[in-house]
Amino acid sequence: MSGIRHLYVHLPFCAYRCGYCDFVTLVGREEDHEAYADALLTELELERPRLATELETVFLGGGTPTFLATSALRRVLASLPRAEEVTVEANPETVTPDLALVLREAGVTRISLGAQSFQPHLLEVLERRATPDVVRRAFYHLRDAGFDNISLDLIYGIPGQSASDLEHDLEAALALAPEHLSLYELEAKPGTRFTHAHGEELKRQADAMEGYLERLVAVLTAAGYRWYETANFCIAPEIGDGRDLRSRHNLAYWSGRDYLGLGIGAVSTVGELRWRNSSRLRGYVDALASGRTPPRELEPVPPEVRSRERAMLALRLDQPLPLARFAGSLDAAALSRMEALALVERSGEGEDGTVALTPRGRFVGDAVAAELVV
Ligand SMILES: C[S@@+](CC[C@H](N)C(=O)[O-])C[C@H]1O[C@@H](n2cnc3c(N)ncnc32)[C@H](O)[C@@H]1O
Ligand code: SF4
Repeated sequence: MSGIRHLYVHLPFCAYRCGYCDFVTLVGREEDHEAYADALLTELELERPRLATELETVFLGGGTPTFLATSALRRVLASLPRAEEVTVEANPETVTPDLALVLREAGVTRISLGAQSFQPHLLEVLERRATPDVVRRAFYHLRDAGFDNISLDLIYGIPGQSASDLEHDLEAALALAPEHLSLYELEAKPGTRFTHAHGEELKRQADAMEGYLERLVAVLTAAGYRWYETANFCIAPEIGDGRDLRSRHNLAYWSGRDYLGLGIGAVSTVGELRWRNSSRLRGYVDALASGRTPPRELEPVPPEVRSRERAMLALRLDQPLPLARFAGSLDAAALSRMEALALVERSGEGEDGTVALTPRGRFVGDAVAAELVV
C-alpha cells in the first residue's frame, strides 16, 4: 500500500503555561477551539491524498489535547482516518471519568499522561497544576475506562531534585504499573522565564546529576521494563502479556519514516521535503477557512541528509544497525575508536554485520552518535 502511514495532529491550547515549556502552545482561547478544529479538518482534507487509506499511527499532541473543548475534540477524533495505534497526550487535571470514556469510545488506543513528578515541591518548581493525587486519579479514570496502554511522562533534572527524589518518583510511577514510561531530562531553553528564574540552581543541578540516567535505567530494567530508546521504556513482552508496547508512532520517527503533521507549528517530512506550518493561529485558521494551504516554511532534505538523520535516531534505539544500510553515514575510523573504548560493538561480517551501542555507550549516546555519524 502506498501513502504516508503516520499522522501527527497538534492541539496547542493549554489552561496555563508551564515555565519550562517551549512547545507551540496558546493559553485559554476557548473561543477559538471550534474554529481551530474546522481548520485542522480542512487541512486534513487537503492533505488526504498523501495518506494511506489505513494508517499505522495517529498521535494527538500538544499543548493539551484534552483541554480542547470536548465537542471539538470529538469532531477531530471522529474525522481522522482509522489507525492501529491512536495516542492522545493528556494533562492529569483534565482527565475526568467522562473524558476518559469520550476518548475510549472515539477509538483512542493509547494515552500519554504528563505526570512529570510525584512530589509537590518539584511540581511547584515546574509550575504544574496537578498534585500527585490528581495524577494518580487521572491514571485510575483511564484504567476504569478500559485503557490498557498508558504511558507516563516524567521529567528529571528539576532544580532541587536529589537522587532520592528521583528514586521516589520512579517508585511512585512504578506503583501504577504503566505500560510505558518516558523519562525526559529537563531542557531549560536560554531566554525562557524558567531559565531566568532558576539559572543558578540549574547549574548546580547539572553538576549533581551525574549518574541519574544510569540509576533510572537500573531501577526500570530491574522492574521489567525494556529500555528501548534513550528516554523511553516499556514493559518487556516476556514480563507483560506478550504485547510489544513500544510507541509505534515514535518508532516511526526514530526509524526515519515519512510522517504528516497537521496544525500550527506541526512538522511533516515526506520524501526529500520537510515543512513546518506557521505557529500563528490567525494565519492558519484564515488560510484554511478560504481553502488554502496554511503558511509554511519548506526545507529540502536530500537523501544523504535523511540517511544521516536516520543513523542518529537509530543509534538511540536498543536494536543493532545493519551496516549494509548505514555504512555511508558512519565514520569507519570513529567506529573503530568507539569500539576500542567499548562504547560500540560490532557483530557479523561485511554486508551482514551490525553495529550497536554498548550499555555504557548508550549512557553517553548523544556524544557517541555525534562522533560516529558523518
Ligand atoms: C508536548 S508536552 C505536552 C504534554 C502535556 N501538555 C503535559 O504538559 O503534560 C509532552 C512532554 O514533553 C515533556 N517536556 C515538555 N517540555 C520539556 C522540557 N523543557 N524538558 C524536558 N521535557 C519536556 C514533558 O514530559 C511533557 O509531558
Ligand atoms: S501543559 Fe504541557 S504543553 Fe501546556 S504549557 Fe504545560 S508543558 Fe507545555
